[in-house]
Amino acid sequence: MGTKEKLLDILQENREAALSGERLALRLSVSRNAVWKAIKALEKEGHTISAVRNRGYRLLAPSDALSEWLIRTHLKRPEFFRVCVRKTVESTNTALKELAAKGEPEGLVLLAEEQSAGRGRFLRQFFSPPGSGIYLSLLLRPDKTAAEASLITVAAAAAVAETIEALCGKPARIKWVNDVFVNGKKVCGILTEAAIDLESGGLEYAVLGIGINLTAPEAGFPAELSGTAGAVFESGRAAQTRERLAAEILNRFDDYYTALSDRAYLRTYREKSLLLNQEILINNSEQAIAQQINDDGHLIVRTKTGEIKTLLSGEVSVKPAREHR
Ligand code: BTN
Repeated sequence: MGTKEKLLDILQENREAALSGERLALRLSVSRNAVWKAIKALEKEGHTISAVRNRGYRLLAPSDALSEWLIRTHLKRPEFFRVCVRKTVESTNTALKELAAKGEPEGLVLLAEEQSAGRGRFLRQFFSPPGSGIYLSLLLRPDKTAAEASLITVAAAAAVAETIEALCGKPARIKWVNDVFVNGKKVCGILTEAAIDLESGGLEYAVLGIGINLTAPEAGFPAELSGTAGAVFESGRAAQTRERLAAEILNRFDDYYTALSDRAYLRTYREKSLLLNQEILINNSEQAIAQQINDDGHLIVRTKTGEIKTLLSGEVSVKPAREHR
């Protein structure tokens, strides 16, 4: 536990009274300046701390803020993941891509309470209001080609679906290629972005971004999302569970990622597939039957004319029931 985490523990235990910087410094065996820096870091994470001259620091209101430390305590490989929580960022993916371009090593995990410009596939926005979801990005530097690295999204979808089932007790389904559904609604989207090293043709880095709606936002989903978007829990607060869920997703993903070529995650991915054996619409126009997910995570379909096609990516939807037959 670092100074910041120990300080948070002390403040949580002493909610009633303010503690002076001097007293805190003594208890933590650090300088008063180190206490001040740790206070500022906790505020940046979203904790509300009152600082009164001559009296000291006190934690205000039960803190629902995501705790870096709590996430770390649930991680199976804390030495690999460097967890960092921010109150608001434009997009955790964008922030990590900037750091990746500057040479940041793999394993950095960035979570935000809120994203002001969360992004999804096809340049869509990802609605990311405060407190009700998990918005997480992980920086990876896999020694893989771009084609192999596309399995990162597949492995992540399997890890998310398994975690939702194991920790939330809700059956989760995966909609090829990057969405997780609960009760027929999309509760999670995954966006993996990568940079190619033009010299080697390999991957310079990949940023895996996962967004999960844990509870419906207080003001509801925006009108354009209300038909498709849902939340894992119907009601209640997402706080307290977010750290465990985030850590469990990272743990499960890590197991899959370290043996990506073994493709163990494909079993879950296929079992929980929402599309297999369904009539689907490709890019909102072409009708087909989803037949298989191959070992590269591609979707094999049979079109109305009997042609077999392999889809590498794209937009696929289940054909509305009234159009069946
Ligand atoms: C999609 O639905 O098409 C993908 C959504 C991915 C959202 C996550 S939230 C964390 C990370 N930061 C982003 O801006 N996007 C991803």
